[in-house]
Amino acid sequence: MSACYHIRPDRVMGVRDLMLYGHFIEHFHRQIYGGVLDPGNPLSDEDGLRTDVLEAMRKIKVPILRWPGGCFVSSYNWKKAVGPQRTPVFDKAWRVEDPNTFGTDEYVAMCRKIGCEPYICTNAGTGTPEEMSDWVEYCNLNHEGEFARWRIANGHREPHKVKYWSIGNENYGAWELGAKTVGEWGRLVLESAKLMKHVDPDAELSAAALTDIHWNVDLLSHCGQHLDWISIHKYWNLMAENNDFADYEQTMAYTNDLENDINKVRGLLMAMGLEKRIKIAYDEWNLRGWHHPKVHTIQQGRTPEDYLLPRDKNDRNQDYTMADAVFSACFLNTLNRNCDIVGMANFAPIVNTRGCIFTHKDGLVLRSTYHIFDLYVNYLGEEILDGWDDHAETMHVVGKTGNHEDVPVLDVLPTRMRESGMLCVAAVNKHASESRALSIALEGKAAAGQYRVITVNGESTEAYNDIGVEQVCLTEGEWQPITADVLSVRLQPHSANVIQIR
Ligand code: AHR
Repeated sequence: MSACYHIRPDRVMGVRDLMLYGHFIEHFHRQIYGGVLDPGNPLSDEDGLRTDVLEAMRKIKVPILRWPGGCFVSSYNWKKAVGPQRTPVFDKAWRVEDPNTFGTDEYVAMCRKIGCEPYICTNAGTGTPEEMSDWVEYCNLNHEGEFARWRIANGHREPHKVKYWSIGNENYGAWELGAKTVGEWGRLVLESAKLMKHVDPDAELSAAALTDIHWNVDLLSHCGQHLDWISIHKYWNLMAENNDFADYEQTMAYTNDLENDINKVRGLLMAMGLEKRIKIAYDEWNLRGWHHPKVHTIQQGRTPEDYLLPRDKNDRNQDYTMADAVFSACFLNTLNRNCDIVGMANFAPIVNTRGCIFTHKDGLVLRSTYHIFDLYVNYLGEEILDGWDDHAETMHVVGKTGNHEDVPVLDVLPTRMRESGMLCVAAVNKHASESRALSIALEGKAAAGQYRVITVNGESTEAYNDIGVEQVCLTEGEWQPITADVLSVRLQPHSANVIQIR
């Protein structure tokens, strides 16, 4: 029996912010240096930025780009990376030298070229509330005070107008430099927020949080009236120490755990009466955790072979398959469904490491996840509609830890484009080998219209893209007439689709 999906175009569940399709870039491995910043490469512009990377980012309408970390930021001194004299520093998080040739001014200029909002994460590890608010002065004050004057002296007469700021990154974690206790965190964020808002009351502030109720209750009890966002992160296939990839079946098991953290934080915000004021910034997410052995442990490696060279394993393009694409499509569906409480999300990262864009000296590889962002940003609507499946089929899979899961075969999200009114239904078929017929009951909608299917897929669950290899792509189907009140579409195995109905 095929599933029949009912859409209620009259029930708008929410309007998603484009910032759900945001991204993150960190001073780690080849994300910045040797990634988007590649001076001397013929593909780079006058600022040393890869024009092909910037163009790829514009094509998926990157709305916001979080920077400079991540763990990197928790011992970062922004003042050493502005002005004519840059101070190379030893990055204590990732244990490499950072030349500091890419700093605040270069980052903001890059965001303006991409056409995205900057989103700066501050150092709440070794940093202080004063250093955080000095950074806001440097970026956002017109000319008052030494830091705004410093920006002007550095050649930037106009303020950078950085609207989004995060206080800290994962300061709850023992791995984080300058980690904080529950009792310390709320107070530090409160004082940092006061100083930053005194500099720029229009700044929107987030703070590092997690689904731990004690951490968040203390944070929100101190700062609920000063924050606009609460920041949570999630990587499902954790591979920091061991680079052991979850296969397709194991990855599908993770799709049962896409909403749990959102629900926990939603519940807490509602319990504290903050759900209208504070939204969730899911500002680091990826199926795959980054591989960087030994840096988060005191028994750190002593040689590059121990802790530095293994980072190149993140660059294995054959590892990013339709598992990554299908999982990411399901997570983006989850974010859209919860767009009343999730206002921002940032794929971690966008360039190299586990990112959707891989760079090499002669060009790019658009990994499978890039095409998912292309599909969701360019073919799906803003209005999230109500709908239900009257025969939700499940399939049995076994997760990475031997956990047995029954997961829905299809993941369907009905949306509508506000300007045109066109129905756009995201439909993911998670089955590894079988297609599925999806019937869409067009209740109340004229059956005389047309439809087309836009699909991201490859020949198998293991399909991937690499230099000279293109096995995963986005294809636009032709417009076809709708000839009945129920539209039936066949969804290929392991595919992410958008069905457009006009
Ligand atoms: O593995 C990379 C790290 O993941 C980021 O720097 C940090 O924010 C998260 O723990």
